[in-house]
Amino acid sequence: MTARASWQRCDDCHQELDELDPRPRCPACGGLLAIVHATSVTREQLAASTSPSGVWRYGDLVLPTAKGMAVSYPEGNTPLMRRQAIGDWCGVDALQLKHEGLNPTGSFKDRGMTVGITQAKRIGARAVACASTGNTAASLAAYAAHAGIPALCLVPEGQVTTAKLSQTLACGARTLVVDGDFDDCLRLMQQASSELGVYLLNSINPFRLEGQKTIVFEMLEQLNWHAPDWIVLPAGNLGNTAAFGKAIDEAMAHGLIARRPRIAAVQAEHASPFAAAFTREFDRLVPVHADTIATAIKIGAPASYSRGVRAIRSTNGVVITVTDAEILAAKGAIDRTGVGCEPASAASVAGVRKLCHAGTIGSAESVVAVLTGHILKDSSILQQIHGEHSIAPELANLPVRIPADVQAIAALLDSIEEGRIERS
Ligand code: F0G
Repeated sequence: MTARASWQRCDDCHQELDELDPRPRCPACGGLLAIVHATSVTREQLAASTSPSGVWRYGDLVLPTAKGMAVSYPEGNTPLMRRQAIGDWCGVDALQLKHEGLNPTGSFKDRGMTVGITQAKRIGARAVACASTGNTAASLAAYAAHAGIPALCLVPEGQVTTAKLSQTLACGARTLVVDGDFDDCLRLMQQASSELGVYLLNSINPFRLEGQKTIVFEMLEQLNWHAPDWIVLPAGNLGNTAAFGKAIDEAMAHGLIARRPRIAAVQAEHASPFAAAFTREFDRLVPVHADTIATAIKIGAPASYSRGVRAIRSTNGVVITVTDAEILAAKGAIDRTGVGCEPASAASVAGVRKLCHAGTIGSAESVVAVLTGHILKDSSILQQIHGEHSIAPELANLPVRIPADVQAIAALLDSIEEGRIERS
């Protein structure tokens, strides 16, 4: 056999599959597939990359054989931001925000999708498909349009924001609105993909996770390969948690970092089967009927549970819950600085504050919180906060109605200087 650069391996029975095998799960036991690479890299090699993509510049750690044929916007290259006000709100001196909402379609999903769609093209997929709470669908739709491959998205009725649904439709994906929740959609889509031969691009697709690893690689490189004490992220289907765990393992194995950051995965209180399992030392997953204002992570039966468990264990991590009220308060703190994010993303900052108050995260520890989606991904929650009958009156900033008269503006400026804002 000739030397292989990359192949697929079942997490459970370790059966190996060719890199170009399109099956979504292990044909022997139904387990999840992972990508294994024979390549090795150094910091110097990575620094020498000239790729304009923040995913493909790590191509040797992502999909070495596909580097020259990537379907790319480009994506990634997201900033690490420091905002004192958010750090103070959390109680952490050295808090940084990795804003993945600044990817081309407004969420971190683009990092996995560039790899997933590139792979779909390589294997000659007749169509690509996903079930989604909205961001995966929008990303799939955009990258499929770029590659010229038909796309099919299943979304739960009434549980996907208008912005995400419209974005998906605008990019031309066939979008099926299902009478059920995300967990129903995913079940249905897995069945359809194996029976109808469409290429499944949910986060159980191992190529998606290879791309999502680059959130961690890029962050570590931005920190000059000094790992932070903590990486905090919102958790739903656990694809990203799994990808972060794999990235940290590989960064250690390649000698890119000298110690492992700890992962803190944050779930919404009523969508938290992973957090519940954590409190029982991960005895088993007990699916729940999920409910939260953070629709992106409204997931009750996470598909990548076993991988999520591995990521938390291997990094000495933690899994916690935050309430919808805590998510809204964190979103208010983030939005007010001008950074902004969608509700699910604010769960990470709410989690940092909670862990800091509990003493789990020390105020002098270095923390990177990942903001997974853009503020405009959920404009209806913005209207609910900053409108009449606000769901969070303490955060509300209502528009001020004035007559078409410069005196009215002058009066308003005076009132701002006096520290009071008139609200109509
Ligand atoms: N944050 C945002 C903005 C998301 O859209 C998602 C997942 C997550 C966090 C959680 O990531 O599922 O890997 O644990 N959104 C998926 C979707 C489910 O369909 O867009 P995860």
